[in-house]
Amino acid sequence: MSELLYINASPRGQESAAGQAAKVLIEALPSAVNVTTVNLFEVELPDVTPELISAKFNFAMGASLSTKETRIWEKVTEMVNQFTKADNVLLAIPMWNFSIPYKMKHYIDLITHPGLTFIQSESGLKGLASGTGTVIFSRGGDYSPKKGKPDAFDFQSPYLSAWLNLVGIAPINEVLVQRTLAGPDAQEKAVESVTAELESIASKLS
Ligand SMILES: Cc1cc2nc3c(=O)[nH]c(=O)nc-3n(C[C@H](O)[C@H](O)[C@H](O)COP(=O)(O)O)c2cc1C
Repeated sequence: MSELLYINASPRGQESAAGQAAKVLIEALPSAVNVTTVNLFEVELPDVTPELISAKFNFAMGASLSTKETRIWEKVTEMVNQFTKADNVLLAIPMWNFSIPYKMKHYIDLITHPGLTFIQSESGLKGLASGTGTVIFSRGGDYSPKKGKPDAFDFQSPYLSAWLNLVGIAPINEVLVQRTLAGPDAQEKAVESVTAELESIASKLS
């Protein structure tokens, strides 16, 4: 049995384009893959408080943590472990103002820490996550690379790629659900257009 961690960053539930695309992938997964879902707009994410930041800095410097810092750090470690130990990570991420929804950034800020999610090795930064990644980006418009160059307004895909590289998720499949707002049936068509791609990715996950 392998573990797929599915992180959904849309508040739109069943109406979500990214969520509908993720569902296509999940339904096509081999039966040996167990799915754990984290809906970032439904779970309570702890605030990044001064205590959490001092726990982060003390942990990074090998200093001892206060009782309060230890309690916060245990929660952080639990979230990090869930992410780093997953065999596969599936992210469903809408574009919000050219970038990612704030809950996804909150999640990234909570789980990205030196010594926990990545380390400094002799050859540079090394991510400690062990899974492969599939990222579904949903967008009202079309931000595909043009003539081999990234779209100048796409701050969603380059940022997520940089972060996933840092934390060690590899390889990464990127699936674009685009032009979801281009008319009444646009979202349905956008999801349909990536169905074969999603099923093919799912069939290779184990
Ligand atoms: C707060 C907000 C900001 C958005 N900003 C953009 C944007 O910058 N570019 C774009 O193409 N679509 C934008 N959209 C549209 C969404 O990207 C689009 O509807 C997408 O399909 C939503 O994904 P979901 O259905 O999975 O939540 C925005 C939507 C919201 C709610």
